[in-house]
Amino acid sequence: MSNIGVGIIGCGGIALQNHLPGLDLCLETKLVGLCDNSADVLARAVKQTGVDIHTTDYKELVQRDDIHAVIIATPNATHSPMAIEAMLNGKHVLCEKPLGIDQKETIEMLDCARENKVRHMTAFTYRFVPAMRYMKHLVDTGAIGQPYHIRTCRLQDWGDRNIGWRQIKKMAGSGELGDMLSHRLDYAHFLIGDMKRITADTRRFIHDREGLDSDLEDWVTVMAEFENNATGVLESSKLATGRGEGARSQDYCEINGSDASMIFQLENPNCFQIARKSQTGLETVDVPREFLTWPGSNRDPFQGDPGISFRWDQDFEFIDAIRNERECEPSFLQGARVQTVMDLALKAADEKAWFDVNYPEA
Ligand SMILES: NC(=O)c1ccc[n+]([C@@H]2O[C@H](COP(=O)([O-])OP(=O)(O)OC[C@H]3O[C@@H](n4cnc5c(N)ncnc54)[C@H](O)[C@@H]3O)[C@@H](O)[C@H]2O)c1
Repeated sequence: MSNIGVGIIGCGGIALQNHLPGLDLCLETKLVGLCDNSADVLARAVKQTGVDIHTTDYKELVQRDDIHAVIIATPNATHSPMAIEAMLNGKHVLCEKPLGIDQKETIEMLDCARENKVRHMTAFTYRFVPAMRYMKHLVDTGAIGQPYHIRTCRLQDWGDRNIGWRQIKKMAGSGELGDMLSHRLDYAHFLIGDMKRITADTRRFIHDREGLDSDLEDWVTVMAEFENNATGVLESSKLATGRGEGARSQDYCEINGSDASMIFQLENPNCFQIARKSQTGLETVDVPREFLTWPGSNRDPFQGDPGISFRWDQDFEFIDAIRNERECEPSFLQGARVQTVMDLALKAADEKAWFDVNYPEA
């Protein structure tokens, strides 16, 4: 395949910010069409991109012969029907996280991708963070010894403002769990491995956001025991008053191993801290050049805001996998694995119990 034509479905917050510059990194790849069911959002996106093929009906977009791949960046409940329609039309799909609203949906998406022999990717963006990739390398090569614990903390202050579809169960599936913790579940899989069993709790403190009902949790914690016996405590909140939002808020991960601990904050994605056994204090480790970009990506890691630019490698990975007819990383399988843990987390929060994790077949 020479030129790859891409369509974007959902032109809101994340789509253009993350995916437009990402597509620009990909050789012989062109953004061909846009879809959003809000005429205003669509008009803004058309103006920003100069793309003249646009529609409010995603089914129209995925039937076009000049579109080979789509990026889905819409509310969570729409991911599955859109991805399935696209894949039945032979399109490769990069879908935002969380992949669907329950495990059943995500397994149907994975099966459909396999049956239609298309490339499939879940946008678990943290796998592209340079520090994450180097931390994984250190875990895998034994540099921190036996992993004992992973601890993640995502603390934001979203207060009681209206957060749109994110506060509505039938559109989002879950609240803070799918919105923020899904990333942490994925990178816990990536860094530490499979979970053996989990428990969880959730809380909704705000039931009304600017006069509109909120029926989803704004705090969640998952506690996990991994197959390698490591433990995990993963917490996420929209109600950490005064902590700010987005890049300015707390986004922390710590791994303690028998020989060293590693401490990461997303505000510095190209470095982290390490504390070695029998040393006092923390040492800052700069990520080596080879880990600053995704293999094969021609992104200049010293250009742009490092807190944003690593995200563009996602699109490189998607397009490169299409071109080379190989699995994307992370694929829908990783989306379905996270969804498996998410379903169990909601059940565990409900029943106040621990559950064994049975992942879908690889
Ligand atoms: N990977 C990441 O780091 C990351 C970051 C933010 C958001 N996300 C995910 O991206 C997705 C979108 O989030 P967002 O913050 O951009 O939301 P958003 O509300 O800003 O944008 C969603 C867009 O989808 C459009 N839309 C809704 N239903 C549609 C339909 N049926 N057909 C066409 N368009 C439709 C809306 O009009 C809106 O413009 C969510 O799944 C979210 O979890 C991922």
